[in-house]
Amino acid sequence: MQKFIIEGGKSLRGELPLQGSKNSSLPIMAATLLSCGESTLHSCPQLTDVYAAARILNCVGCKCSFSGNTAVIDSAVIEKTEISEQLMREMRSSIIFMGAMLGRAGECVVSVPGGCELGPRPIDMHLAALGKMGVDIHESGGRIICRIASGRAKGAKISLAFPSVGATENIILCAVTADGETVINNAAREPEICDLCGFLRKCGAEIKGDGESRIVIKGKKQLHGCEYKIMSDRIVAATYLSMVAAAKGEIILTNACVPETEPFLSVLEQTGCSIYMSDNRIYLRSGSRLKAVRERIRTMPHPGFPTDAQAVLMAALAAADGTSIFEENIFDCRYRHADALIKMGADIQVLGKVAVVKGREKLHGANVQATDLRGGAAMVIAALSAEGASEITRICHIDRGYEKMEYAVRLLGGEMRRV
Ligand code: EPU
Repeated sequence: MQKFIIEGGKSLRGELPLQGSKNSSLPIMAATLLSCGESTLHSCPQLTDVYAAARILNCVGCKCSFSGNTAVIDSAVIEKTEISEQLMREMRSSIIFMGAMLGRAGECVVSVPGGCELGPRPIDMHLAALGKMGVDIHESGGRIICRIASGRAKGAKISLAFPSVGATENIILCAVTADGETVINNAAREPEICDLCGFLRKCGAEIKGDGESRIVIKGKKQLHGCEYKIMSDRIVAATYLSMVAAAKGEIILTNACVPETEPFLSVLEQTGCSIYMSDNRIYLRSGSRLKAVRERIRTMPHPGFPTDAQAVLMAALAAADGTSIFEENIFDCRYRHADALIKMGADIQVLGKVAVVKGREKLHGANVQATDLRGGAAMVIAALSAEGASEITRICHIDRGYEKMEYAVRLLGGEMRRV
């Protein structure tokens, strides 16, 4: 099992090009199933979750290959519509293959994604919506068996009780080749939904309203492959900005998606860091000591403060001047990193969905275990800003979402090794 060894206390300085977005790449890779041809994806990040998605594509008969950050996926031939339980469990977001496979083949057998480090992640909204589109669904021994009697889903009016990212993606993936029009009310507005729709439109799909609460999709009989560049990762941007804010120094992020990162930047700015944006660059210079954020940091669906950036900002605020309060409104168990930060000297009290972070003068190094992807990244940030050495184990969580994080940190002058 690999681990990270970090020597904290060094200020960070440099320029970093941002990787492509994980949460765009995964649904877009699933969407290539609909294209019945070859698609080329640029800026595809080299991540274990991306490779897990590639294994799913290969197992159903597609040909998926990588050259650096370019993925070429040929989905001309599909040999089967069943995805093994083992592959489904490798990556929790594998459930988005359900909508894509239904859109392509009119049937699929997948697994319940199972328990998760962020608390239970039910798929009731996905199933109810697909049911409305004519998909007959039943569960047997943890397997979800889906079939459309006519072979082609039918358009439907769907109102989501909550703007779920995954449910919105599954509906879009099934609707682009459905018979008739699908309307999604209270759709998720995350930028990654727009990126998925951008890809699908290039493949010939007709979609309007993505980025808004009401998405309208006119089904097409068939889509074709295309060449597409995946948007950059706004959560990775939030992570490196929080890192430099915490460890002190300055950073220029290139290839950044500035408007999409704005909900995070507007909160980070309150810590006293100087932040400048231009086109696709974000520049940050930390102040001598971070200030606590005065208003409650409430995670909300986009364009609210992103839940995926909660842990990394908390790590930075653990050594800020004053008390910051977080309110996690998206996932039930998203404070699992708090214990590790406390071990590093942070003063954090978790009360249900609220976490009260009293800024300490300094954190100190410790041996901790990554609990989940963003929680693990938060521990790296805390370790880099702390005095002394830290060891972080179970870094497989971090590798799911960050391309070679230790290289990026070393490029900025930090001391971080993988052993
Ligand atoms: N939910 C339900 N029923 C459903 C679907 C969702 O109750 O049928 C609940 C979930 O349990 C959760 C909330 O709704 O409490 C939000 O879930 P959502 O479906 O929006 O999230 P997701 O699609 O599972 C994606 C990202 C997450 C990100 C969330 C929220 C991907 C692959 N994952 O998850 O990313 O936190 O949206 O923005 O896109 C990460 O990258 O670290 C990560 C966890």
